[in-house]
Amino acid sequence: MPNLPLGKERLHRAAADCGIVHIGTAGIRQLRRLVDRIEAETGLHFIRMEMGIPGVPSPDASVQGEIRALQEGVGAVYPPFEGIAALKTEIARFIQRYMDVAINPPNCFPTLGAMQGCYLGMALAARRYADKTRILFIDPGFPVNKLQARSLGLAYATFDLAEYRGKKLAYKLESVLVDGDYAAILYANPSNPAWLCLSAAELEIIGAAAHRHDLVVIEDLAYFGMDFRTDYRQPGKPPFVPTVAHHADHYLLIISSSKVFSLAGQRIGMLAISNALASARHAHLKRFYPSDIFSEALAYGGLYAIGAGVSHSAQFGLLTLLQNINSGRYDFLEAVRGYAQRAARLKTLFRDNGFQLVYDRDGERSLGDGFYFTVGYPGMTGADLVKALMRFGISALALDATGSARQGVRACVSQIAAGDFDIIAQRLAHFHRVFG
Ligand SMILES: Cc1ncc(COP(=O)(O)O)c(C=O)c1O
Repeated sequence: MPNLPLGKERLHRAAADCGIVHIGTAGIRQLRRLVDRIEAETGLHFIRMEMGIPGVPSPDASVQGEIRALQEGVGAVYPPFEGIAALKTEIARFIQRYMDVAINPPNCFPTLGAMQGCYLGMALAARRYADKTRILFIDPGFPVNKLQARSLGLAYATFDLAEYRGKKLAYKLESVLVDGDYAAILYANPSNPAWLCLSAAELEIIGAAAHRHDLVVIEDLAYFGMDFRTDYRQPGKPPFVPTVAHHADHYLLIISSSKVFSLAGQRIGMLAISNALASARHAHLKRFYPSDIFSEALAYGGLYAIGAGVSHSAQFGLLTLLQNINSGRYDFLEAVRGYAQRAARLKTLFRDNGFQLVYDRDGERSLGDGFYFTVGYPGMTGADLVKALMRFGISALALDATGSARQGVRACVSQIAAGDFDIIAQRLAHFHRVFG
């Protein structure tokens, strides 16, 4: 086991071996490779906060549902790429029960994670009109969405939500959207990395702006209901998970199963198109897709053309899980509640050792505890901090790539085990002695 802090030369050598030029601004997967390598070379146990991998086992209902389906032979048969009928019904029921929003089952689709839902959502939204092709990201956000926009050849703009909370959001949106060439607004709620949660009033502002400028709202619910400040656990009863669906006509709800159902490995998510948008006709869609009807273009030109649907057994696994959730037999939010407790404990450890939270307010309220939090250290940029923490056996991601206007790092709590807290406390205290 090496002494900490690790030598700078050792770190740079390992980075060079992994083909990384700048450690501080390396992407998630590069950092992961680098940490794997240092762990293997030195035997040091890293505190891994760089990647958002679930730290909870997949629910038994989905595992059993999938095994049963495979035993019954679905593996030999192509799945319906628009989703098996029973799954489409359960997705619609889930949205009804937890969000109080009615979406017809034909407009609900399984996708290859939220990732595919966002990709297709942007592609379709930006192909409705020849001259409305730009995406507005409300940041800080998930960097992969920008990669997707680039690969689709779409220009985009972003701003940091933290600077424009409440009524300021309306003025900011108007000042950006006035250009008139925007196709969609995309944001995650709660957000990755900052864990900012939009209020009902802010969602109403977004819905109104989308209506005024004929935009599609792409609402990424990758952390569905995981704002643990409010208890959303009772299906069919208020409070319901906040959504723009109550304030907009043309929207896509993208619900990931990765974190909230701990099914990241199965690559299955859900995409629901508002009824009004699903049936909307846009002649320009025909340039790219076999239909000018939004939902048909998405299904036949999007889901079918890219991979022809989600694996058959994963669809059955999600179906069984949703049946259990929708009927109140499985409390999916209880299963992931532990993340909030970990975050609260970790934030205290960081603060006790000279760090500050980079994002700590949600408008008028204190930020909730969830899957991620953000920290900075006085006098260090986010990139400096990534490198410095790494020398103390802690890996995290710089905020630079997320569209944040602030300096710091994102810490993900999911891989922190009970035995790690003492180690983190010692390493952060040591860090503070060296840099404080
Ligand atoms: C905001 C956000 N959207 C989408 C995703 C990807 O979700 P999925 O695994 O369902 O593709 C993530 C994963 O980290 C995320 O943080």
